[in-house]
Amino acid sequence: MFRMLTKTSVTLGSRAAGWVRTMGSHQLLVPPPEALSKPLSVPKRLLLGPGPSNLAPRVLAAGGLRMIGHMQKEMFQIMDEIKQGIQYVFQTRNPLTLVVSGSGHCAMETALFNLLEPGDSFLVGANGIWGMRAAEIAERIGARVHQMIKEPGEHYTLQEVEEGLARHKPVLLFLTHGESSTGVMQPLDGFGELCRRYQCLFLVDSVASLGGVPIYMDQQGIDILYSGSQKVLNAPPGISLISFSDKAKHKVYSRKTKPVSFYMDITYLAKLWGCEGKTRIVHHTTPVISLYCLRESLALISEQGLENSWQLHREATAYLHKRLQELGLQLFVKDPAIRLPTVTTVTVPAGYNWRDIISYVLDHFNIEISGGLGPSEEKVLRIGLLGSNATTENVDLLAKALREALQHCPKNKL
Ligand SMILES: Cc1ncc(COP(=O)(O)O)c(C=O)c1O
Repeated sequence: MFRMLTKTSVTLGSRAAGWVRTMGSHQLLVPPPEALSKPLSVPKRLLLGPGPSNLAPRVLAAGGLRMIGHMQKEMFQIMDEIKQGIQYVFQTRNPLTLVVSGSGHCAMETALFNLLEPGDSFLVGANGIWGMRAAEIAERIGARVHQMIKEPGEHYTLQEVEEGLARHKPVLLFLTHGESSTGVMQPLDGFGELCRRYQCLFLVDSVASLGGVPIYMDQQGIDILYSGSQKVLNAPPGISLISFSDKAKHKVYSRKTKPVSFYMDITYLAKLWGCEGKTRIVHHTTPVISLYCLRESLALISEQGLENSWQLHREATAYLHKRLQELGLQLFVKDPAIRLPTVTTVTVPAGYNWRDIISYVLDHFNIEISGGLGPSEEKVLRIGLLGSNATTENVDLLAKALREALQHCPKNKL
């Protein structure tokens, strides 16, 4: 097309030149890419990494529905249904519950940008990459960040956190429920109570655990909870769920300074999401199609029931652990009580290169698993059984793939 236009303008002389001028002041320097003339091609894969997971068929179908405007009443109805779905999966009655238009990191930043002001004391459980990321974001805000650094594979006790609270007098405590970089499930009972005693708000990241591990936002005294769409919920990545308790809302609404992010300013998002009466404001264009998908994934988990989903993950992951151990593989998290029922970390077997194992499983079985991340990099393989992927059939397939990988991948090639 580009070549044709140029040729025409040469043959037709000034007439064509005039025509070109009405279309724009310059000729195109960059032609349409050849690659885009080919049909879109996406391989068929079983996604057994720590996320994203495969989309449930009903969620995938929702992605093909027609667009409507993001400020139409039908869309508000869908947003209201999503809010109710989040209240169910979070087990909260917080009115300030909504979706942020961005991936899990965006929810993390939404929480921190809104809650922390420069100079605020912030206590972070850094036993994996997510606490480290929260610390980095808070440092950018100018908060006084106190990291409770632990070895990957470890968790926090009430006593350790109480020492931190007493010493640093933070306004906010951050813990990761499902530490997907290390495979640790952080117990949450008692921490909300503790925070209340020390007048500190309690923020929890449940991106990798929600729907697969019990969590009770209100009853566990969690003030801010966020999660992602692309793990147990089997929805597309790029949007995330968040809720603020009245206490957290009060802290945000009585800030001395405006949060530096306009996009993530919860006072605007609350109005866009109808959390403050019926009037909605135009703030940004929400990802309408992704919201349809999320609505369907929340409908699916509501129909299934949270307790059934938790049990399914616990059982499928226990079966995975058994199959891995039969292969002679070692689970990275030593204490069985704190192994995460959604993402399993396996110590890279001695003599093998983790990349070879992952590539073998992908090339020969079309199964995606992943290597370590942050402090677990080079140390582990990460396997996710997330939502509808948490089946014994998938575990059997993966066990077969891993057995072959261990037989065929070169040893001692480090
Ligand atoms: C526990 C946890 N928190 C936060 C994130 C960040 O989510 P996203 O990659 O969607 O930004 C992830 C992603 O894997 C995660 O597992």
